[in-house]
Amino acid sequence: MGVAPQGADESRIVSARGVVMPRLVYGTAWKKERTASLVELALRAGFRGVDTACQPKHYHEPGVGEGLAVLFGEGLSRSDVYLQTKFTPLPGQDPENVPYDAAADIGRQVRQSFEASLRNLRVDRLDGLVLHSPYAEDKDTLEAWRAMESLCEQGGVRQLGISNIYERSRLEYLCREARIAPAVVQNRFYAKTGYDRELRAFCRERGILYQSFWTLTANDQLLAHARMKELGETYERSPAEVFFRFLTQQDIICLIGSSSREHMRQDLAIFDFRLSEAECEEVSALLR
Ligand SMILES: NC(=O)c1ccc[n+]([C@@H]2O[C@H](COP(=O)([O-])OP(=O)(O)OC[C@H]3O[C@@H](n4cnc5c(N)ncnc54)[C@H](OP(=O)(O)O)[C@@H]3O)[C@@H](O)[C@H]2O)c1
Repeated sequence: MGVAPQGADESRIVSARGVVMPRLVYGTAWKKERTASLVELALRAGFRGVDTACQPKHYHEPGVGEGLAVLFGEGLSRSDVYLQTKFTPLPGQDPENVPYDAAADIGRQVRQSFEASLRNLRVDRLDGLVLHSPYAEDKDTLEAWRAMESLCEQGGVRQLGISNIYERSRLEYLCREARIAPAVVQNRFYAKTGYDRELRAFCRERGILYQSFWTLTANDQLLAHARMKELGETYERSPAEVFFRFLTQQDIICLIGSSSREHMRQDLAIFDFRLSEAECEEVSALLR
């Protein structure tokens, strides 16, 4: 499983591929023309991980590149930022705005999407490339994965991941077939999937880091629970901050797409406190 980097603070973790990743990653979906300024705000607040996608329907990837460029221009080092984007299969794209040749085979689509991401993000290398979702057929998933592996082997990307994969058997298949195993899984974290308990157990066995989204938006009831409020009072934090802290203590990387400077500041400050083992057990019990 991931370990804290040597001599570094608790806000980061090292993947099985040896890539240092922040435990809180700034998410850039749905920000449209505000993307550049919000990425800039997030980096200034202290986020050192950014998640995006080459999927114009939901992400303005060139805006991410614009926001990053401002901070890189001011001296922020590229190596201090974990930058992750996604290849989105055709069914997930707006047919009117596909960022690659929709008629090309899957391998070429992956390469074209990757090239577009490098241009959009104004970088020559990615830290993470995530398959946005498995295809309906495993053979298509594998075709996309093979192209992603080639990009990794050629040095264009440091690690690979897969998102929206809720069946353990499908992840097992990918791990069995892969030359380069997924380093991250990015999923919706909510009650409907039993919080991916089984899938996360498999990820732990294989040293795959789990990234959560919908962490707040799909967990209203949990956040309103009296025990979460009490823990918030104990540590003088909101239940949202307590929940993020709990998850980071389980080695879950949280995607946070806040547009609020105050929420960004509060979320990044969760590493100033630590829940006890007994308290983590109590929060775990609320997820059962
Ligand atoms: N792989 C996929 O298919 C997929 C799907 C969805 C999302 N994602 C990724 O995950 C990222 C996060 O998306 P999300 O759906 O989890 O929701 P989100 O964009 O992070 O939204 C969280 C909501 O919670 C509110 N909030 C309240 N208190 C907060 C606090 N302390 N910190 C942060 N937010 C707080 C935010 O409001 P304020 O703005 O006022 O803070 C915001 O409205 C996306 O940007 C994207 O990168 C991936």
